[in-house]
Amino acid sequence: MKALPTAKPTAAALTIAIDGPAAAGKGTLAKRLAVHYALPYLDTGLLYRAVGRRAAEAGIDLDDPQAAGAVARALEPSALDDGSLRGREAGELASRIAVHPPVRAALVAFQRGFAARPEGAVLDGRDIGTVICPHAQVKFFVTASPEVRARRRTDELAAKGRDVDYETILAEVRERDRRDAGRAEAPLKAAPDAHLLDTSEMDIETAFRAACDLVDRVLAERGGA
Ligand code: DC
Repeated sequence: MKALPTAKPTAAALTIAIDGPAAAGKGTLAKRLAVHYALPYLDTGLLYRAVGRRAAEAGIDLDDPQAAGAVARALEPSALDDGSLRGREAGELASRIAVHPPVRAALVAFQRGFAARPEGAVLDGRDIGTVICPHAQVKFFVTASPEVRARRRTDELAAKGRDVDYETILAEVRERDRRDAGRAEAPLKAAPDAHLLDTSEMDIETAFRAACDLVDRVLAERGGA
């Protein structure tokens, strides 16, 4: 995937990196922060979802690193506009192809280019604070227990009228954690300087306020420097 042409980031640029496991609420938090600070937002999971979907459609072996890497290199940004990528099935495909180094390498430039926009950006994923934007001004690691994440996901799907079973979703959440955190390349893990937000017993409003307090502090320090 090609990098987008970008201008040089300004001194006032603010990059917010958000990582965490599936269904921890990081997407919701990232979107709210992006609106609040008027920053562009990139859901990097969509890149992996689009590659997984394309590879499956082309009948490619998802366990073949080179074949999956070629799909990632050919990806166009317009592929991210497909709303169906947010479903469970694309998430599973994404987690499988995301273990391959050639896939990850093909998606780095696009993500770094997005993060280097003049005004800054909010990116969420698994390796944003560790690999994609190690110099982000603010990093969050958003997590919650597998049981809480599975409960939220089950309720969310049930609200959309889907017939889902909590135990099945919990098994999926655990399997995704195992794959995302266990892979050799860019595994899911908190950057040493990331702020931990455990949302197990916190609603999104509380998490959002805690995150804003931190970003405001960083901005105030920078303003006073
Ligand atoms: O955030 P998500 O559920 O849309 O991500 C789907 C999968 O994509 C996730 O299980 C692992 C992979 N992924 C990744 O490896 N690195 C990222 N920065 C984002 C997602």
